[in-house]
Amino acid sequence: MRWWQREATATIAEPGTVRVQGVRVTVDDRVLLDDVTLELTAPRIAVIGENGSGKSTFARLLNGLVAPTAGTVTVHGLDVGRHLTAVRRRVGFVFTDPDAQILMPTPAEDLALSLRGRPREEVAARVHETLARHGLSDHADLPASSLSGGQKQMLALAAVLLAEPALIVADEPTTLLDLRNARRIGNLLLSQEAQVLIVTHDLELAARCDTAVLFDGGRVVAQGQPDAVIARYRRLCG
Ligand SMILES: Nc1ncnc2c1ncn2[C@@H]1O[C@H](COP(=O)(O)OP(=O)(O)O)[C@@H](O)[C@H]1O
Ligand SMILES: [Mg+2]
Repeated sequence: MRWWQREATATIAEPGTVRVQGVRVTVDDRVLLDDVTLELTAPRIAVIGENGSGKSTFARLLNGLVAPTAGTVTVHGLDVGRHLTAVRRRVGFVFTDPDAQILMPTPAEDLALSLRGRPREEVAARVHETLARHGLSDHADLPASSLSGGQKQMLALAAVLLAEPALIVADEPTTLLDLRNARRIGNLLLSQEAQVLIVTHDLELAARCDTAVLFDGGRVVAQGQPDAVIARYRRLCG
């Protein structure tokens, strides 16, 4: 079967379920993830753990930025390896550094990029409305490089949301932000209807999720109620 036929027949067999089975990721001789098996059905999922524990590698598996060396990853019933285009349509990815994500010269153009292929009037109206909602109207046509860090991350997240993903994966989206902007971005992420998975060192934000996963040394060492998983993380760090 050719890829476009596979995409056409890809069905969303498991809405709201992220399933990772027996996943191992190696680069050369280094083991980045090992023996990772998870079934995540909660609407809001926190991923925590020390630097280098494998959180970003795990997050990147969910939209195919990283491929498993062994095991399988399915998002809402779609195998990430086999249905990459369909998965990327469903999974919005928010990076730590918004500069990695803002592709166009101005905020208005960047948001419009998320709506390419739609009628011009619709694009203009939704871009206008999105800029207003996130306090960016005054910056619509200024160079994106002139935005503050908080405004840039808001723009990056707004561009992801415009594409209406069914799963939003955010890798330390608040790490570079001050408290006010971290809260704004955190609140916006947690208020989404889409399923949200947030990699974070902000344990207050993690505690507000429905479930948490703790990584250590490339393995999942705890998953469950955020408070219990956070307590385990605190013990792990001594
Ligand atoms: N492409 C790569 N090649 C080699 N090592 C990598 C690569 N990506 C990540 N690593 C290593 O894998 C480990 C886990 O990285 P990462 O998933 O980024 O952890 P975290 O996000 O929890 O800080 C780290 O030791 C990191 O240096
Ligand atoms: Mg990381």
